[in-house]
Amino acid sequence: MNTAKEIRQKFLDFFESKGHTVVPSAPMVVKNDPTLMFTNAGMNQFKDIFLGNTTPKSKRATDSQKCLRVSGKHNDLEAVGHDGRHHTMFEMLGNWSFGDYFKEEAITWAWELLTEVYKIDKTKLYATVFEGSAEDGTQMDSEALEAWKKHLPEDHIIMGNKHDNFWEMGDTGPCGPSSEIHIDLRSDEEIAKVPGRDMVNTDNDQVIEIWNLVFMQFNRKADGSLEPLPAKNIDTGMGFERLCMVLQGKTSNYDTDVFSGMIKQIEKLSGHSYHENAKTEVAMRVIADHIRAIAFSIADGQLPSNVKAGYVIRRILRRAVRYGYTFLPLLAGAPAY
Ligand code: SER
Repeated sequence: MNTAKEIRQKFLDFFESKGHTVVPSAPMVVKNDPTLMFTNAGMNQFKDIFLGNTTPKSKRATDSQKCLRVSGKHNDLEAVGHDGRHHTMFEMLGNWSFGDYFKEEAITWAWELLTEVYKIDKTKLYATVFEGSAEDGTQMDSEALEAWKKHLPEDHIIMGNKHDNFWEMGDTGPCGPSSEIHIDLRSDEEIAKVPGRDMVNTDNDQVIEIWNLVFMQFNRKADGSLEPLPAKNIDTGMGFERLCMVLQGKTSNYDTDVFSGMIKQIEKLSGHSYHENAKTEVAMRVIADHIRAIAFSIADGQLPSNVKAGYVIRRILRRAVRYGYTFLPLLAGAPAY
């Protein structure tokens, strides 16, 4: 079995072999961008490069970025714990092109990594392609469609609207059409009943998006209009914890080695077992997720407090405490919290 550490390293090694410079994750706490409190995507640290305000040291970069999605445009907080695939903090594996390669290479390399390096079964994969938007005056992404046709049968390529296939950092800022890769992890019997293409983007825990390839071409202005960026860029983001789930043959991110140690420790401290009932499962997932988010926020410079970004962290902490007290009452003989 691949450990999470090996899975992360394989991603970085693969893109390094394709001429990318491996760069460190930026801190999860953002101090120099008034539009963001926390890093919500791998591309945040490269925003000024996309906007043409600074020149990159290298035209290709790759990393694993710590992200926190608990406020603003990307907010998954309320889903955390109730399914096996959402997190407040997660790692996003990414590769970037700053005015260098574009859609064809991004798609070909994503396919090569998933199917040849990670050896994921090709028949389980689906790609979505942007259908265009009359509202924004953007076209259907025929370039991405043609690139996918080289790898996938047409019934594994699905057209998607602006909601699913046009990625934006926030209300303003760099954005562009995207192509997502989804995987169907259901059993053969279930697949025979309903094909995977009908399950993509239906909020199913076993038919999930694993990688988002964004073709960064525009800047969304405050008046809502789109302005072309000075160069065409690539920004991809793969959910590391979801990839670990797929490669470790699990059905929940929380069953991978990223989280299993924390769940075991919560079991030990509370005296409850993870699978005791549905409520203990939710509570332990909430606590495991939130502890990680809070610890990394503090390490990256944001303590819980009663204002602004600090208050967001305090709310995460309170949510974990609330789930603990409500669903994991201390059992006789268990060590105190
Ligand atoms: N920016 C895109 C995302 O966050 C791809 O990295 O999903």
